[in-house]
Amino acid sequence: MLLSSVGVFLMTALAGIVSGQQQTTTSSNGTSLNPVATQYGSTFKNAGGKVLTSFVNAYVIFYGDWSSANSTADQNTFLGFVDGISSTNWFSILKEYTDGNGNAVSGPLNLAAAVHDTGSAGLNLTDHNAHKTIILNAVKSGYLSENNQLDSNGVYILLLGPDVHDSEFCSTNCGYNSYSDQFQYLFIGYPGACPNFCTPPMNKDQSPNNSPSIDSVITLFSHEIQDVLTDPRMDAWSVRNGDQVVEVGDFCSGTGTSTEQWFGNLQKASNGGSYNLEFNDAKYLVQTVYSKEQNKCLLSK
Ligand SMILES: *[C@@H]1O[C@H](CO)[C@@H](O)[C@H](O)[C@H]1NC(C)=O
Ligand SMILES: *[C@@H]1O[C@H](CO)[C@@H](O)[C@H](O)[C@H]1NC(C)=O
Ligand SMILES: *[C@@H]1O[C@H](CO)[C@@H](O)[C@H](O)[C@H]1NC(C)=O
Repeated sequence: MLLSSVGVFLMTALAGIVSGQQQTTTSSNGTSLNPVATQYGSTFKNAGGKVLTSFVNAYVIFYGDWSSANSTADQNTFLGFVDGISSTNWFSILKEYTDGNGNAVSGPLNLAAAVHDTGSAGLNLTDHNAHKTIILNAVKSGYLSENNQLDSNGVYILLLGPDVHDSEFCSTNCGYNSYSDQFQYLFIGYPGACPNFCTPPMNKDQSPNNSPSIDSVITLFSHEIQDVLTDPRMDAWSVRNGDQVVEVGDFCSGTGTSTEQWFGNLQKASNGGSYNLEFNDAKYLVQTVYSKEQNKCLLSK
């Protein structure tokens, strides 16, 4: 999605995925690209900012109620994904994205810490400042690092539980990435609250890890992490067009993106859930990554 209230925040929703109903542009050689890639693919470049190169710590904040047995399984599913994703050939596609000195996104993404916060900023979040406050509360808590310091080269990941209401989640976004003076972060709500908006249709009833909500979080994360790593301060791999901010993740998702473009080659798990990536004996549904070298959305490189 390409909407933005103040010209900096990128929203993500999965609502556009309705197989067969998209308008796509098909070039003469059969490569189908979405409107973003069609418009910006050939000129896409780093606007001068940094990317997150080499070792990147990931800090996960489970906010709200994550206490049920299924929630515990969900947390393990998500943490397993974060822990392993940077070793995959999917992640390797991001290595095309460099800063002005030629330093590329390379990983590893290191799962540094995870914390529970049952509601330090309340259960009705009304703006992005509330999200930043939650992150700062987690940093100060001592559970994310020994020195209680912000990690300016890390990524903070804020996930909401089912009991948390957010003013934008489920209405204008399912997740987004943004930054503050000293850190960058990504936010993802609880997709089970609005499956028609935030769950890929092929995983609404069954999903590879028996949890449509956490599997949707993983799909959303696979978009936002692309943006955070290649455009942590929204001055690197992004294009501004009026109020719109386009980042790497938007080249293979959103309005006008075919299911094939968005997810590549889908496979069915034995439980009926759809996936397209497998590592460490687990299956996941991720978004494709835009290869600017090949002008294609790829699942591996
Ligand atoms: C296919 O066409 C697109 C759009 O014209 C172009 O960018 C891309 O390089 C072409 N791919 C191949 C493999 O020729
Ligand atoms: C918990 O997970 C099990 C299997 O993984 C599922 O059958 C059950 O419906 C889930 N319960 C809830 C409340 O989501
Ligand atoms: C959340 O807070 C807003 C603003 O104070 C209020 O209008 C809204 O009714 C609240 N929503 C819930 C679910 O409590």
